[in-house]
Amino acid sequence: MTAQLLDGKAISAELRNQVKDRVDARLQAGRRAPGLVVVLVGDNPASQVYVRNKQNACQQVGFKSELLRLPAGTSQEELLAVVDELNARDDVDGILVQLPLPEQIDEDTVTERISPHKDVDGFHPYNIGRLVLRQPLLRPCTPKGVMTMLAHTGIDLVGKDAVIIGQSNIVGRPMFLELLMARCTVTVCHSKTKDLAGKVRGADIVVAAVGVPRFVKADWVKPGAIVIDVGINRLEDGSLCGDVDTDAVGEVASWITPVPGGVGPMTVATLLENTLLAADLRDRAG
Ligand code: GUN
Repeated sequence: MTAQLLDGKAISAELRNQVKDRVDARLQAGRRAPGLVVVLVGDNPASQVYVRNKQNACQQVGFKSELLRLPAGTSQEELLAVVDELNARDDVDGILVQLPLPEQIDEDTVTERISPHKDVDGFHPYNIGRLVLRQPLLRPCTPKGVMTMLAHTGIDLVGKDAVIIGQSNIVGRPMFLELLMARCTVTVCHSKTKDLAGKVRGADIVVAAVGVPRFVKADWVKPGAIVIDVGINRLEDGSLCGDVDTDAVGEVASWITPVPGGVGPMTVATLLENTLLAADLRDRAG
């Protein structure tokens, strides 16, 4: 591999240390520890792993964290009542309802019920709207984490051509807004895109978020491009791989993120950053 690795483990450790120092400073100033409540409905195995990682990370930086486990049969009304209680609690700065939710619950309705000031996922239409208007407050964690990684390359992003593969609400769309705000020229590709390989070939920055193992091939990538792999796919043999054919693309790109150990840890560290920001903003609002 000739590309440099964008090491999400190392960058996220640095970010977590910064958060921890700021939490310590809050405590020394007589302010409370930021509080995050994660709500997990049902027993989706992948969600259980993600939620455990988030809880562990909270503990490491000195947050007060709670996990609310609700049964798979929880009704939408019951979940909305839980969200209302958390919205009203003074000691809760961040509320994260882990997605996906069971089919009897409408995710958009739940997302909109979370107070925008406690929406540490950054998924509420208010927070997405702030990002559209270039006045971001709480920003979706994965795209924001990707921007932190890109900053670590030291490369000036202004005027770069960026291609995003995937148009989800969680990654593709907010990633478009982040890169546009950084003054890239951004193309969002999806399943109906014509000549996807040709579009990727024109990109200085490629962000892959499709959910298809090793989808992005080496001959699609412009020599020297930065390649960010948001995918985490479990293969039949139990191993993990991303949406990029990493070994081959790593011979063409200038920078590449590994999977695992790339974007994944950045998402968790950015959640901590958002929760601390939510606590600081709430304190300031009084
Ligand atoms: N499910 C997969 N990714 C996420 C995320 O970033 N936040 C929430 N709440 N659920 C998810």
